Amino acid sequence: MGKKNISTATSIAGVELDSYVCNASGPKCTTYEELTELGRSDSSAIVMKSATILPREGNPEPRLARVGKHGLVQSMGLPNLGYEKYVGFSKKLTKFGKRIIGSIAGFSFEEYVVMVKAFQKSDVDLIEINVSCPNIEGKSLIGRDFGQLRDLLTLTSGLGTKPIGLKLPQYDDPAHWFTVAELVLEYGVSFITCINSIGNTLVIDPWTRKTVTSKNGLAGLSGETIMPIALANVRAFYELLGGKVSIFGVGGVIDGVSAFQFLLAGADAVQVGTAFELNDASCFTYINKGLIHMLEYHGFSSVEEAKGQLLYI
Ligand code: DHB
Repeated sequence: MGKKNISTATSIAGVELDSYVCNASGPKCTTYEELTELGRSDSSAIVMKSATILPREGNPEPRLARVGKHGLVQSMGLPNLGYEKYVGFSKKLTKFGKRIIGSIAGFSFEEYVVMVKAFQKSDVDLIEINVSCPNIEGKSLIGRDFGQLRDLLTLTSGLGTKPIGLKLPQYDDPAHWFTVAELVLEYGVSFITCINSIGNTLVIDPWTRKTVTSKNGLAGLSGETIMPIALANVRAFYELLGGKVSIFGVGGVIDGVSAFQFLLAGADAVQVGTAFELNDASCFTYINKGLIHMLEYHGFSSVEEAKGQLLYI
């Protein structure tokens, strides 16, 4: 008799996901066509591009370049169709029977409030508040300014019943993990997504002596090289939040092995950005199958059983 197929079904903030793997906000989730492709794929949710109040073209090309085999730098500059479009799309996308996640990026607290209110009245299941977009000049990251983060949470919690989450930047100071975890618990944030791409990195082409992305060449680094940073953030928050807040792990998930590493660190689900950008929607199928193999190899019969089961040497 063949082995019973292990399900990787999971949940984020009480919202059930058919598998452990979905897309990350960013690559190929801006237009309705791209979102319907996600709807048809094995991504367990349709996560939409971070929306701003008004549509944006984003930064000039080139704004994306490969780093190594499984990495990217990007300085997209939030190209998107404006939040009203995504609120509208959320209704149409329900036909795929998947969870829908709205993502928002404001330029002021007022803008965040307008967009949270609009998504609270939409058909999305979860609202991800991006406090870590690295490609906007002259803006300090709300996710790195804890006074601003508190003010934002004061204004955006209690605007509706849909779970709210924060897309966080990476932290490398344990004191910052502690402070953010306290705020998350105090304001009843339902989930966190960690980590966003690492902002303001510089790639230099030694042959042309040029930068690889437009303007000053500074861009957000993502993919395989940032995975140890992402894992550390997931683990720190897993320990500090004690299972009270769901965690999306993101940053370098390229296969079942890397998804399993996020699971051991304590992630409730993973999002895939760079690997989707560099490949196609079959990555969700491939990663989920690989995760099932890893669970079988270690004798786990569910995602729940393996969650957080990192061993210390
Ligand atoms: C962009 C990049 C991000 O990492 C993010 O969180 C939001 C937007 C961008 O440049 O489009």
